Amino acid sequence: MRAEPPPLAADPTALSRLLGTTLDALRDGARTRGGPLPAGGPEAVARRVREALGEPLPETGHGADEALRTLVRVLAEGAADPAHPLCAAHLHTPPLALAAAADLAASALNPSMDSWDQAPAASAIEDRVTAALAAEVFPDAPRPDALVTTGGTESNQLALLLARERQGRQGRAVRTVVGANAHHSFQRAAWLLGLPEPVVVPTPRGTLDPAAVREALAALSGPVLVVATAGTTDEGLIDPIPALADLCADYRADDRTDNRADLPEYRHADLHVDAAYGGPLLFSRTHRPLLDGLARARTVTVDLHKLGWQPAAAGLLAVRDAADLAVLGHTAAYLNADDDTEAGLPDLLGRSLRTTRRPDVLKTAVTLRALGRAGLGELVDACMDRAQELADLVEKAPGLDLRARPTLTTVLFRPNGPGVTDGTVAAVRRTLLAEGRAVLGRAEADGRLWLKATLLNPHATSGDLAQLITLVEGSTHR
Ligand SMILES: Cc1ncc(COP(=O)(O)O)c(C=O)c1O
Repeated sequence: MRAEPPPLAADPTALSRLLGTTLDALRDGARTRGGPLPAGGPEAVARRVREALGEPLPETGHGADEALRTLVRVLAEGAADPAHPLCAAHLHTPPLALAAAADLAASALNPSMDSWDQAPAASAIEDRVTAALAAEVFPDAPRPDALVTTGGTESNQLALLLARERQGRQGRAVRTVVGANAHHSFQRAAWLLGLPEPVVVPTPRGTLDPAAVREALAALSGPVLVVATAGTTDEGLIDPIPALADLCADYRADDRTDNRADLPEYRHADLHVDAAYGGPLLFSRTHRPLLDGLARARTVTVDLHKLGWQPAAAGLLAVRDAADLAVLGHTAAYLNADDDTEAGLPDLLGRSLRTTRRPDVLKTAVTLRALGRAGLGELVDACMDRAQELADLVEKAPGLDLRARPTLTTVLFRPNGPGVTDGTVAAVRRTLLAEGRAVLGRAEADGRLWLKATLLNPHATSGDLAQLITLVEGSTHR
């Protein structure tokens, strides 16, 4: 006789029991780890995983409880845990409990956002929530919209694709102008889309200098996409968005030509802002002005799995004019046949280049409703305050140098003193990683290597920050 198939996620009793096992395993693993990441480096972690995993595809299964207990435990034991206040290397957020709980509901029901008949309520939620977020980015635009993406990389790629389709008619390739401070995804997007390599404008002071961008534009003709960053990956800096929007507006051929796209002297520039990191400042009454000019962009990338406390993936590409998205329209008879669309079934396929697509918007919808703008703004403010506090501590520590007062939540610092080199900085970081005591990032600025703390944990305390300083000082002169 055949065994019963395992219970489905739709069975609340089974799910709830397995959740108990999962949560116990998460707790056990974290307790054994005892810090922000496992001690012993890659070999120790790989050995524990090898031992726990055994044969990844056994002939006979171990059963749900054992598999969850073993593998969730080893995952948690070997995690770089973004919820630990000394884990502060990357834009790697500690997710909110309520968002993770919402994500469980998304996994259990498994709506797929490629057709209405797989996601009736999920698609209506996405419609409402993306409209609200698009209006947050473009408050005065008559028809803003936003697509849900897997993150900044996909959003930036889509922004370039939309620019290519919008501007690149007449066989003119769109040139992208980016700062040296921009995210690497623009180079890959240009490569993927068959566009010329981006023109890279040096950013010796960390942000784009409008005069340098003006010079780069003067050497170009044809359609251009200028990229500004609101929250650079390395330093958390914000490019001068209003000045760059002015430059784009000025970049036009002589009016006598009517600036026709078929003429060689045709010039047109749009602005894309990569606000993957800084975008959520929009929720903060105090810090929102740092994003002045954002609404003058044509497209804006925002990630809520960075300064928005969502489990990945929670990316958005906001567009000032929904009409720009029409080029993504696509028909597949089994998903959005014309007669179904004419009969009123929403056509979702053109809202992504993916087909099967998780309802990633659910956790965001739950978060927005649970916390409101004010609650999210307070979380942003708390992290911004922590960064200022860490900068104060660095300034007071005689053995450390601060690169600059932080703009967002990134703090760059390094040990100083005779004999301290970039090699010392790199070694401090690796020592803390190997000992499992702190997770700090690295960034090059000013021709030197710096330790990078990216503070995204609103629960981090002053004591945690002081401990971070003590750990770096203690690892410097060993
Ligand atoms: C400014 C910026 N843009 C885009 C990205 C890419 O985002 P994702 O990793 O979500 O694709 C990052 C990642 O850190 C980033 O810092």
